[in-house]
Amino acid sequence: MYNFEYHNPVKIIFGKGEISKTGINIPAGSKILLTYGGGSIFKNGVYDQVISSIKGFEVIEFGGIEPNPHYETLMKAVEVVKKQNITFLLSVGGGSVLDGTKFIAAAAMFQKGDPWQILSKHMPVEQALPIGAVLTLPATGSEMNGNSVVTKIETTEKLAFGSPKVMPLFSILDPEVIFSLPEKQVANGIVDAFVHVIEQYLTFPVNSPIQDRFAESILITLVEEGPKVLANRADYEAAANFMWSATMALNGLIAVGVPQDWATHMIGHELTAYHGIDHARTLAIVLPGVMNIKRELKKDKILQLGERVWGIREGSTDERIDHTILKTIDFFESVGIPTRLPDYGVNTDTIDTICSRFKKRGYKIGEKADIGPEDIRMVLESRL
Ligand code: NZQ
Ligand code: ZN
Repeated sequence: MYNFEYHNPVKIIFGKGEISKTGINIPAGSKILLTYGGGSIFKNGVYDQVISSIKGFEVIEFGGIEPNPHYETLMKAVEVVKKQNITFLLSVGGGSVLDGTKFIAAAAMFQKGDPWQILSKHMPVEQALPIGAVLTLPATGSEMNGNSVVTKIETTEKLAFGSPKVMPLFSILDPEVIFSLPEKQVANGIVDAFVHVIEQYLTFPVNSPIQDRFAESILITLVEEGPKVLANRADYEAAANFMWSATMALNGLIAVGVPQDWATHMIGHELTAYHGIDHARTLAIVLPGVMNIKRELKKDKILQLGERVWGIREGSTDERIDHTILKTIDFFESVGIPTRLPDYGVNTDTIDTICSRFKKRGYKIGEKADIGPEDIRMVLESRL
């Protein structure tokens, strides 16, 4: 196992009715900017619960943060923060609203020019406004990490940054928010969380049995509970287990002391940037290709995944690897997510564009930093 330091200060407030604790977790005297998305919070009662909990605070609202939040929109919120002397950001929504809010928190205090450089040049976040989150969609793990992914429409770029400064002070996870989620978003959440675990697990062995078994327990829980949520949105117990799995999948715990991959995410972000495909769906397309081209490097962990999660014990090494990839594809498709590029109308022109972009960037991806533009071409062509 590698050396590591782990510090996660996010206070999690979990369970039915807990949105009522929003106000008591915000520092007294704060001037709040309440950020939200396209309006789902007005239809499912989440907005009303939040508002009644933050009575007594001065609150300004900023809505309209899109899925795959746009830099252009977020910069408008930064103006509001500055003009109104906002001291606290309250994100009420899914991963996009929260990621957007993290960027607003950092951009509003950025002193070195255009805040886009936090994403494009990895300029460090030295200060950020404090954030609280009421999560309405289990998927990204953003509620308990310091990551954010932002899209710049002008240049068709979707880039990520990470900083402990933008970890929420608290995140409220009430599984009842799942009751109003459309099937498509539940499926996205299951697959996104599943692939987060895979990116931190499916690399090469470093003798880390605790992390491995934590990771496998999250995968198995998603496989068991996810379909129950899809079948019956009002199943509170399944919703609770799904929601906690998605948080545990990307709060840094299973990543400690082990190598991480993230190639599937890096390639997937380009598919969203160019074609607007939902984040999780891009992962379902790309992951089988990455597993296939990296079958030698990832051999031990693919076999372990096959055996411990999918129960695959028979056949030669290659047969077991093929079977494990197929079972993973079957799982994605069983929750209603197609896994091939033509299912989304993507053709070879996009593959060329994505490969040239990676070529221009000049770095390689994957746990061994050995996946370059030509490997990315192989991954994507295998998904045609
Ligand atoms: O905008 P509203 O009206 O709220 O509707 C949203 C949106 O249309 C809707 N929704 C959310 N909660 C709902 C609901 N509808 C009904 N009932 C509810 N309770 O769902 C739609 C999608 O929301 P979005 O926030 O975009 O989804 P998600 O949480 O999957 O976030 C995706 C974004 O997170 C990034 C992705 O790249 C993408 O931009 N990621 C962030 C990560 C992180 N911060 O660690 C890691 C991930 O890998 C991912 O990259
Ligand atoms: Zn993801």
